[in-house]
Amino acid sequence: MSHLLAQEDLPRHVAIIMDGNGRWAERRHKPRLFGHEAGMKAVREVIETAADLQIPYLTLYAFSQENWKRPRAEVDALMKLLQRYIRSESKKLIEKGIRVCAIGELDRLSPSSRAELDNLIAQTADNDQLIVTLALSYGGRAEIVEVARQIAKRVADGDLDPDDVDETLFKSLLYKPDLPDPDLLIRTSGELRISNFLLWQLAYTELYVTDVLWPDFDRQAFVDAIIAFQNRERRFGTVLT
Ligand code: FPP
Repeated sequence: MSHLLAQEDLPRHVAIIMDGNGRWAERRHKPRLFGHEAGMKAVREVIETAADLQIPYLTLYAFSQENWKRPRAEVDALMKLLQRYIRSESKKLIEKGIRVCAIGELDRLSPSSRAELDNLIAQTADNDQLIVTLALSYGGRAEIVEVARQIAKRVADGDLDPDDVDETLFKSLLYKPDLPDPDLLIRTSGELRISNFLLWQLAYTELYVTDVLWPDFDRQAFVDAIIAFQNRERRFGTVLT
């Protein structure tokens, strides 16, 4: 582990947009699925690294709402990969005290993927070493619209005064209200976009973009991102005194 990493100043919550599996495969003249499979290994390494560093929260953008528009074969392959990941990793995740959660429109997942996911979530529910949140069929706008719908219903039912709608109430209605806002967002493969990820939660998050493609994002690449974060000055809109 790099000696430049300050153990006392780690981000509490790291969120990652895992991008570049397709390009990684293309460069090797292989099908896209080959890149996703390699991406699964990177998921494993990043989770292990977060656990070793004692970072408490890690959120991974595994499948966006927009990803449903990909060719059927690729969507099916990604769903199968998720199931394979759950089957092969469950034991280790449970042993290591890692809790797995999920955010997104989970009802859209195939029944078998949903069942395996629910099972893993239940089996790890009492763990607290590291909370890994998988964003699946996730869209930041959809999450915000869902909160708006719940607020509108409460107002319509006469249970809520519009004057009482504030940020605290809004946050309490997000998919995972207890998840602290990310301190650091990492995006791989060089794209300078948020891509509908955690739109509410990223308000003051430090952004780090690397050209490394997701399957190549290893322990050292993760540590490099954290070192970059540690060299930032976070002001949250104020002036440091
Ligand atoms: C982006 O690469 C990646 C995805 C759409 C899927 C992410 C999936 C994994 C990392 C593997 C499985 C994950 C779990 C949790 C089991 P891309 O296909 O958009 O790459 P490209 O932009 O180069 O085409």
